Amino acid sequence: MPFDITTLMAEHQGRNYALHEAHVNPRFAKVLKLIGFDRCYVRASGPHLWDDHGRQYLDMLAGYGVFHAGRNHPEIRRALTEFMAADYPSLVQMEAPLLSGVLAEELKARVGYGLDTVYFTSTGAEGNETAIKFARCATGKSHILFASSAFHGLTNGALSVNGGQDFRAGFDPLLPDTGMVPFGDAAALEQALRAGNVAAFIVEPVQGKGVNIPPDGYLAEASRLCRKYGALFVADEVQCGMGRTGRFLAIHHEEGAEPDIVVLSKALSGGYVPVGAVLTRREIYDKVFSTLDRAVVHSSTFGQGSLAMVAGLASLAVLDDERLMENATRMGDILGRGLAEMAGRYEFIHDVRWRGLMLAIEFGRPKSFSLKTGWSTITRLNPDLFCQGVTIPLLEDHGILTQVAGHHLTTIKLIPPLVIDESDVGWFLEGFDAVMAQLHKFPGPLWESLFRIAKNSVSSGNGRRAAAG
Ligand SMILES: Cc1ncc(COP(=O)(O)O)c(C=O)c1O
Repeated sequence: MPFDITTLMAEHQGRNYALHEAHVNPRFAKVLKLIGFDRCYVRASGPHLWDDHGRQYLDMLAGYGVFHAGRNHPEIRRALTEFMAADYPSLVQMEAPLLSGVLAEELKARVGYGLDTVYFTSTGAEGNETAIKFARCATGKSHILFASSAFHGLTNGALSVNGGQDFRAGFDPLLPDTGMVPFGDAAALEQALRAGNVAAFIVEPVQGKGVNIPPDGYLAEASRLCRKYGALFVADEVQCGMGRTGRFLAIHHEEGAEPDIVVLSKALSGGYVPVGAVLTRREIYDKVFSTLDRAVVHSSTFGQGSLAMVAGLASLAVLDDERLMENATRMGDILGRGLAEMAGRYEFIHDVRWRGLMLAIEFGRPKSFSLKTGWSTITRLNPDLFCQGVTIPLLEDHGILTQVAGHHLTTIKLIPPLVIDESDVGWFLEGFDAVMAQLHKFPGPLWESLFRIAKNSVSSGNGRRAAAG
């Protein structure tokens, strides 16, 4: 019998959570059940998902930010299937593959800064591991600076420059010789750079955890300071790059910032084939790959796989052809302004910030007495729980998929596909407005269900939503 994926999927339909509880990540399966996110999605198109009951959802999370072009984009799929039909060789290894050369040219043209050499990876974390290695090797120094709240991935090196405790706990000792500076504080950065032992400062131009946007001028000043003290300036654009903020790179918004290394991944894949890219200057590359003997001193087996390169090229073409960056700016502004208007009506909303389609809604302590009681009780039981009082009814009652912006944050992050239109934005604003109205009634049924979840999560030790993206 030839292998038949359609039959296999039909035979197993609906077994998702049982299989995961038995074989994959039982703890995460339990968390999803606890918060009512245990759905079985069976179809996807653009910014929409459908479950096995035929219910349609709006995806404001985009697979942790990989689906800029939306899910199952027909042009990216066509490129991949056409390429597969051509029987073209991939991963010959002892050759210079055509398509990684073409993709490198395309990326250089969009990134700029004189970054003229491209190293390909399969993930964002691998890109940041590469940046750390390149910086240490090229400068001959060892210290790596990173920002508070930073997230650069979960492999050992990338985790060593994570700006929070939650992901680090239990994995010590991590890389030696790293140090944290407060995000957005150029004076503190200069203080740390003065030691003269810093190989690189790695920073997300807009931070994924919390959607923190630095003060104007910070990135330019950070880049100037790095140059002054002989450290490399690394921009991790894994999440905020590829057009999400309305420009190809988020750092393109800041005049005068000049990164020495730029790391991309996520949306370059089109959501189809994992891929990442590290762009740097030839003089840095030359220090790492310094002799013929060292021509592959840093490499990985799947780094330049042809399918990944096709996905990257097709994703860039769709980004241009469908003017997705312009759409990100336009839709981001409509969404952001709509939410900012609600902040005037709902006292739990303390801040709304956005750049293109990377948005944060930050909640905080309300003013009125009865709401204050609800807020204090729930955040005391579990600091992450208030946001679940938003994400759970958004999914359950309005079919909108969202995520908490990170551990212990009272912030919800929106990173939808860049293809969303006015009707999707209207869908979100209406649903969110209704959830806010419900939450601003204390006591009320939504609060009852939150307290129930709090009790269950405390008793089963499952209080947290994963928020790796
Ligand atoms: C800014 C940033 N850097 C790096 C990573 C890690 O990427 P990956 O999960 O592909 O290793 C992420 C993932 O969310 C990210 O947001």
